[in-house]
Amino acid sequence: MTEWAKAVAHPNIALAKYWGKLARPGNYPAVPSLSVTLAGLATTTAVRFRDDLAADLFTLDGARPRDASRVVELLSRVREMSGERRFAEVVSANDFPTASGLASSASGFAALAFAATRAAGLDWGESRVSDLARQSSASAARSVFGGFVELTVNADSAAIVAPPDRLDLRVVVAVTSEDAKGTGSTDGMRRTAEKSPFYAAWLEEAPKSYARLRAALLAKDFGAVGELAEASALAMHASAIAAGTVYFAPATLAALHAVRVLRSKGVAVFATIDAGPHLKALALGDADAATVKAHLLTTPGVLRVIDARPGEGARVGEA
Ligand code: PMV
Repeated sequence: MTEWAKAVAHPNIALAKYWGKLARPGNYPAVPSLSVTLAGLATTTAVRFRDDLAADLFTLDGARPRDASRVVELLSRVREMSGERRFAEVVSANDFPTASGLASSASGFAALAFAATRAAGLDWGESRVSDLARQSSASAARSVFGGFVELTVNADSAAIVAPPDRLDLRVVVAVTSEDAKGTGSTDGMRRTAEKSPFYAAWLEEAPKSYARLRAALLAKDFGAVGELAEASALAMHASAIAAGTVYFAPATLAALHAVRVLRSKGVAVFATIDAGPHLKALALGDADAATVKAHLLTTPGVLRVIDARPGEGARVGEA
């Protein structure tokens, strides 16, 4: 039995969204994306290879998920590359709702890629770990790094665009459900590519809006970053909705409305939404974040809010 190897990783929120995959094998995104890795939420994962196992054993938040195939796939890649033959025990825990569009797959596969390679004796740097994580979940490639991070089309690994302090960003997550989401992102993307009349427009537009957002971030122009981020999320959802894939709950729209009302009153706040019902509000500094938080907490259907801000990438060790 090997020693436990532990790693911690944080979710990230895409400001310029990834939605859709290239036709080539290997899980490469069809559009470039730019995200912010969040302090305040964490996945911790421990891995050890054991002599006495007949299959990989995966525990998430104290339970054994019915479908562990993506975890087994990552472990099999690690076995191929390391010469490790044994099966592994994996124990993972999130301190936020799992599989509900809070990017648990991003932090989950980033932490797993770090912990599994270390447990197998592979002393890989961040780029190789990011490449391995990307093959399981493209957004996980970004969670390996801290601050503002991009994953470009055909790149194996994500890369840092700017450190966490580039903007004094606050992310207020309006939690609207504690349940697992209905349609996983891979299925949602496949359906969008197959059925959405707007998918071609999305593929055309997303790279341009990513480039504008990247430039606005480097210029520290929060107003432009926020506007572009909200537009990216709405364009992504418009393309998915046209294929029949709706991630919004009533509370998602109520929270979006609340953000827009606040903005009309002069507060610089913008919204983004991933493949789940939660809304993430983007604001600058503590005072605006407190205003946004108070409004979201009184919005019908919002269960609670989580405060997050730009943070560090994944690392070996514990939270
Ligand atoms: O990497 P996945 O399969 O978890 O897909 C992520 C998709 C979005 O979260 C909606 C957008 C993104 O870029 O993170």
